[in-house]
Amino acid sequence: MERLQKVIASSGYCSRRKAEELIVEGKVKVNGKVITELGTKVDYNDTVLVNGKPLNNKEEKTYYLLNKPRGVVTTVKDEKDRKTVMELIPNDKRVYPVGRLDYDTTGVLILTNDGELTNLLTHPKNHVEKTYIAKVEGLVMKQDLEKLCNGVIIDGKKTSRAKARIKKMDKKTNHTIVELVIYEGRNHQVKKMFEAIGYKVLKLKREKFSFLSVSNLKSGEYRLLSVKEVKKLYSEVQK
Ligand code: URA
Repeated sequence: MERLQKVIASSGYCSRRKAEELIVEGKVKVNGKVITELGTKVDYNDTVLVNGKPLNNKEEKTYYLLNKPRGVVTTVKDEKDRKTVMELIPNDKRVYPVGRLDYDTTGVLILTNDGELTNLLTHPKNHVEKTYIAKVEGLVMKQDLEKLCNGVIIDGKKTSRAKARIKKMDKKTNHTIVELVIYEGRNHQVKKMFEAIGYKVLKLKREKFSFLSVSNLKSGEYRLLSVKEVKKLYSEVQK
């Protein structure tokens, strides 16, 4: 049994606060009866109508952590028929990727049917920490990394604060390995940030999403998140 407002929010219909408003306003029916009490508990068998429309609350919540390999798109279906991340996990639940990784980017990707958690983790105001390891062409100068930390203009808008440090620099092969921590999730953000300071990203891996890493998973492997991990993710975005 879960609180009604949580069930509405986790279906992805709206935020928990908005769900509370809808309940108080008498817009929510459970098994045909208008419910205005906020603490009311329901389960997956109850029929919930919001504004007269049935809520998709019938499916148990599932959370996968995938070590995304290269050469796979982060969409449910690809118009060019390329392999998608959906082919790497069981297909009995209608889960969706939380945010996106490029075709050639590897590393941490969460997939879930918990719409509320997806909204919270991807909302820019929640500043979820994402750690990337980028192999960059050339020898990156310290002062350039400072520019990344202070913000650079991409797509006409300045990026928010970031953390960057050099992990390795190889003069012979002329490349640098940089760890970049960002708190937004704009399109191709890391590649564009390096482009803005004059460098090309050759390889990109998302090493961490919040506290989650895929260090124990081989490329293409997945595992389920534990209840504790899901709770921790919620607590990271509801501080
Ligand atoms: N930034 C990028 O440029 N690509 C990704 O896949 C993720 C972040």
